[in-house]
Amino acid sequence: MKKRGKNFIGLCPFHQEKTPSFTVSDDKQIYHCFGCGNGGNIFKFLMEFKNISFVEAVEEVAEYLGIKIQYDKGVYEDKQNELEEYYEINILAARYFSDSLLKSNEGEEAREYLKKREIKLQTQRSFGIGYAPYGWGNFLLHARENKADLIKAKSLGLIDINEKGEYYDKFRHRIIFPIFSPNGRVIAFGGRTLEKRDDIAKYLNSTESQIYSKRKSLYGLFQSKEEIRKLDRAILVEGYMDLISLYQAGVKNVVASSGTSLTEEQVQLLSRFTRNIIILFDADPAGQKASLRSIETLLKQNFDVKVITLPRGEDPDSFIIKYGKDKFDELVYSSKNFLEYQTAQFEEEGMFEEPAKATLAIRELVRTLSLVDDELKRNLLLKSISKKFNLREKLVESELISFLNLQNQRPDTRERMTNKNVKLFQNLNTINAASPENPFERELVRLLFSGNEEIIGHIIDRIAPDLYSDPKLRQFAEIAYSGFEEQKYSPAYLIEKINDEELKSYIFKITLVEETISKKWDEISYNGKIVKDSLEYTIATVTNFLISQIEQQIKRNNQIIAESKDERLHLELLTRNKELQEEKKSLINQTNKK
Ligand code: CTP
Ligand code: MN
Repeated sequence: MKKRGKNFIGLCPFHQEKTPSFTVSDDKQIYHCFGCGNGGNIFKFLMEFKNISFVEAVEEVAEYLGIKIQYDKGVYEDKQNELEEYYEINILAARYFSDSLLKSNEGEEAREYLKKREIKLQTQRSFGIGYAPYGWGNFLLHARENKADLIKAKSLGLIDINEKGEYYDKFRHRIIFPIFSPNGRVIAFGGRTLEKRDDIAKYLNSTESQIYSKRKSLYGLFQSKEEIRKLDRAILVEGYMDLISLYQAGVKNVVASSGTSLTEEQVQLLSRFTRNIIILFDADPAGQKASLRSIETLLKQNFDVKVITLPRGEDPDSFIIKYGKDKFDELVYSSKNFLEYQTAQFEEEGMFEEPAKATLAIRELVRTLSLVDDELKRNLLLKSISKKFNLREKLVESELISFLNLQNQRPDTRERMTNKNVKLFQNLNTINAASPENPFERELVRLLFSGNEEIIGHIIDRIAPDLYSDPKLRQFAEIAYSGFEEQKYSPAYLIEKINDEELKSYIFKITLVEETISKKWDEISYNGKIVKDSLEYTIATVTNFLISQIEQQIKRNNQIIAESKDERLHLELLTRNKELQEEKKSLINQTNKK
């Protein structure tokens, strides 16, 4: 991260970007990304970055700082408790499946199957592999006996409900692969059928739930992350069995996409451990298609991408069992870069036999190339394309430039912001549009977020929460005021008390971006020399806020006078206005005295 002004700024770890918009404030102890909207304090950061719970985040910070935590039941937030319950149900299920594989009589068939597929007992343990027996109510009974919340078990996809309103097991007669979070919590299950029928899906996976999002998780990462970090390289396979077989054979830097091409989120997750990847998908048309799509997603996030092609009909599991680790290492050694791979694919499709098709193919290669961010790397690859197809370098280069221009037309942020964030930003503009009335109000809220006891105290003593005219800002003022009562006023504390995402984002904006109310105001007050966040500045801001509130009240009163014919009301409002003028005068005098 680089220091810019008071803050540090760098590339956001939560979304993909080329220009830094991830901002950390050291003095305020908060972070915010102006690109994707993620933001909060240290705990929020760890929760998001490591995919862990609040309690775990607190434990981690405490350990880092050498602080001993005293646990107090009841301080857990409701939501956290609820999530914990989901995890517990999954643990209950994982134990049940594992026991029925290793210990039960019915497990015999599954044990035989795994033996046939050469999966050793120790490997079964490392991956928590289990077995869901034949029948409709096995896990269900176990869940009932353990008083698990069946509604929650249903939303985890372990059980379902039939037309008669009866629960039943979803995983039946299947080998079970628990899916772990990068931190080792069981978030979902994949089950491979033992039936030899075509009318049943080979694999059944847990549904999306409160704790599981398929797009965001990578199978095997929990077991392989250290090795991936160590070797600074990952091998990407399609299936559960591929991953497990390679791991068992000693190729431990593997992750599995579970049968689809990689999502942006999965690539983001992997990028925490390495940016070098070798794609090793099945040697079938589906695998090839998924490879090409994954290459694009990976290049867009600056990965170095290589591809291994297996002999026809093999998958990584069958290959390593048939040919062994040495032959596998040879394959890895001979992996091609993504352009060579793509070229080979086109060659196989006969694209280079007709000039018209060849043009299309080369254009597609250059398009992929344009996704590479590193200029040096891009130029080297450009040279290799020109050489390979015997084309003038300038020609390929001009083609490349037109793709690059096309990409630049789409602004980084707009392209990548999720829908939710787009909405957030639109809302942010409406707040700004709705409250230009009193710029001092906004400044006060910014000062309430300064973490300075004296400054916050001064504001709280002089301005009641209902004086804030913007309802959103009033909402924040209320949070800040009640926090102050409990002696809790640090920005890092307050930011997590704001539930309204829109407001939160607005607060980030005004506290992390240095803006002045207006040049004129700065000059008038301090001859151009302003020390923001000083008590002096706060006093002036409070006074100016009150003055402008009074002016507005006078204006409103005058409007009512002009519109109404009620003489008694006129008189009343005129008297009130006179008082307000007096109040304003004394405020101005106070300022001048200083
Ligand atoms: N998959 C899935 N649902 C299916 C089929 C496949 O989710 N109906 C996912 C699984 O994660 C599976 C991967 O896609 O591991 C690859 O599928 P496939 O190659 O068909 O299975 P294998 O992993 O090779 O399993 P096996 O060797 O047991 O046949
Ligand atoms: Mn297979």
